[in-house]
Amino acid sequence: MSPKEEIDILTAKLHHLNHAYYVLDSSEVSDYEFDKLLLELQNLENKYPQYKHSNSPTERVGGTVTKNFDTVLHKRPMLSLSNTYSMQELYEWDERVKKGLMPLAVDNTPEYICEQKFDGVAISLIYQNGKLSKAITRGDGTKGDDITANAKTIKTIPLQLKGTDWPDEIEVRGEVFFTWQSFDKLNKMQDENGEPPYANPRNTASGTLKLQDSAIVASRNLDCYSYNLLIDNQIFNTHEESINALQKWGFHISPTWKKCNNIDEVWQYINDWEQKRKHLPLATDGVVIKVNKYAHQQELGMTAKSPRWAIAYKYKSESAITELQKVTYQVGRTGAITPVANLKPVLLGGTVVKRATLHNADEIQRLDLHENDYVFVEKAGEIIPKITGIDTSKRSIGANKIQFINTCPQCSTPLVRHADEAAWYCMNETGCQPQILGKIEHFVHRKAMDIDGLGEGKLQILYENKLINNVSDLYALTYENIFGLKKIYTDEDTGKNKEISFQQKTSQNLIVAIQKSTLIPFERVLFALGIKYVGATVSEKLVTYFKSMDNIQNATLEELKNAPEIGEKIAESIYQWLRNDTNIEILSRLRAAGLQFVKEETQILNESNKLAGITMLATGTFEHFSREQIEAKIEANGARLLSGVSAKLNYLVAGNDAGPSKLEKATKLGVTIISEHDFIKMLE
Ligand code: IVH
Repeated sequence: MSPKEEIDILTAKLHHLNHAYYVLDSSEVSDYEFDKLLLELQNLENKYPQYKHSNSPTERVGGTVTKNFDTVLHKRPMLSLSNTYSMQELYEWDERVKKGLMPLAVDNTPEYICEQKFDGVAISLIYQNGKLSKAITRGDGTKGDDITANAKTIKTIPLQLKGTDWPDEIEVRGEVFFTWQSFDKLNKMQDENGEPPYANPRNTASGTLKLQDSAIVASRNLDCYSYNLLIDNQIFNTHEESINALQKWGFHISPTWKKCNNIDEVWQYINDWEQKRKHLPLATDGVVIKVNKYAHQQELGMTAKSPRWAIAYKYKSESAITELQKVTYQVGRTGAITPVANLKPVLLGGTVVKRATLHNADEIQRLDLHENDYVFVEKAGEIIPKITGIDTSKRSIGANKIQFINTCPQCSTPLVRHADEAAWYCMNETGCQPQILGKIEHFVHRKAMDIDGLGEGKLQILYENKLINNVSDLYALTYENIFGLKKIYTDEDTGKNKEISFQQKTSQNLIVAIQKSTLIPFERVLFALGIKYVGATVSEKLVTYFKSMDNIQNATLEELKNAPEIGEKIAESIYQWLRNDTNIEILSRLRAAGLQFVKEETQILNESNKLAGITMLATGTFEHFSREQIEAKIEANGARLLSGVSAKLNYLVAGNDAGPSKLEKATKLGVTIISEHDFIKMLE
């Protein structure tokens, strides 16, 4: 087979597998197999760039950096829909539709298509000759931003249409969104990196589409449902036919749509979905009703802002009114203060709500919150209760405005606010209990030092017994001084008394777990320290570059900034942390306890000469080996290990989560990219 044929076949196969996996939710091959095929294609494309398809599946990994998005004019304006919240208005709309259709025509009864109103970000996708050529945000409806590079990373947006029966040019409208699952995953990452969580999936989807680095967009797993097809010379008669065609061409269509023969059936659909929608994988906020036949749509036309042939019925977001009892303030592990509204318990969407987040000082100001106000609470995105407004008519005369605190509620330290951040911080890192315990909690986390058996309650006991005040104290704990410690506390939600205690087995296990943690590799130790902005990925980058804590401690601010992918904010945070007396002391005690502060250099001596004369580099994480082991194997089998991707590099061994920038650079330089499996094969 010629290389061109091979590339064509692999490209088609990967487009097909991608569609099966992401759109149809069925995996035809294992992830490993998929990655292998993708690498194979990438290697062929490197060797024969002239045969690479412009919308190759290898484009999905991202790697393009856009400084400024171009503004482009929409070929057809992106209109909005008129909204209604009531049954009566919906029936009135149906009357208007019926009146608008020619009374004497044979076919003047409207059919309706009901769809969910997805709560995401509208997008316009242009396909030319079956290939995605442009993706544009809604913008002001007339012109939007060209976000093609970012849209290409969304796996449910086809890069190449399936089949052949599509017109030369089509425009597809759809909604880009986060599933609840991807949104939770993103927020878990934020938490692990010590960053505040994103509040709402829609705004986060919108922000993500405008990120400059498309590799980050790729990593966040956005999704897209398509719901409209626009063609200059329409080839279909109905919206229903269009949806079916879009599905056939490979677009992701929500299976929730339904054809209704009259407005009563529409009303039934709306009622059916009011509860059912809560089980959908994404946020929705209503139903969009569209007249099915294009001839009817044409006849009805549009007003200046919205088409007459469609309407959005919006569900009232469940809300309740209740009394604000007091505002309390939580202190996070980084010292950030979050105000919380404590409410008179109220039933909302099947659960009792007692608290709602107020986000930050600006939000209290924006709401103009007063003591004992009656507030409207809603479930924002159906999960976290949020205060959306105040019934000022119920405000008692002389009620005081809620004033944000200016000292820490736990340790009374004056709060400070950093430039360009909304949160106020307590800077008393070492003397403020929630910060102390929050930092230790982060340190023992499964992804950090992996010390099992130290939940919030147990940490509290150790702290109250003056056994721990910072992470280094963990290594001074002994079986004798923890065995038998206990505490009885009242569960806030149930009001019941509970006991937490260090019994024989738990005490033994904990001491063993602490000891075992001294073997945890340096990159995880660095992450465990909880330095602001130093998450798991940044830690790994720092360790790869600097190799040891000594080198990081000795680095100047400039040197830190110059390390690959370490920005100014991160560099400054590390530099300051390392120059704080308490941290210096903690570090020296952790060193004395035997923790790993040097990058593991696994030495495997002279295995063979099978790789003699070639240069290699490994990136990402692997199934059978650690990266250090792969690197050791590279050298032990005679190859030269390079420190970065350059024109001198022959092979890049790419594992899971391989750095997109490395892959991109390697691709550009024509370096052969191989998988862990290929690497093992080379040694056989
Ligand atoms: S059709 C002429 N269908 O709602 C308008 N829009 O207010 C054509 N939306 O900007 C839009 N789900 O972002 C349509 N199934 C759906 C939708 C939907 C959500 C959004 C879309 C649009 C806004 C209109």
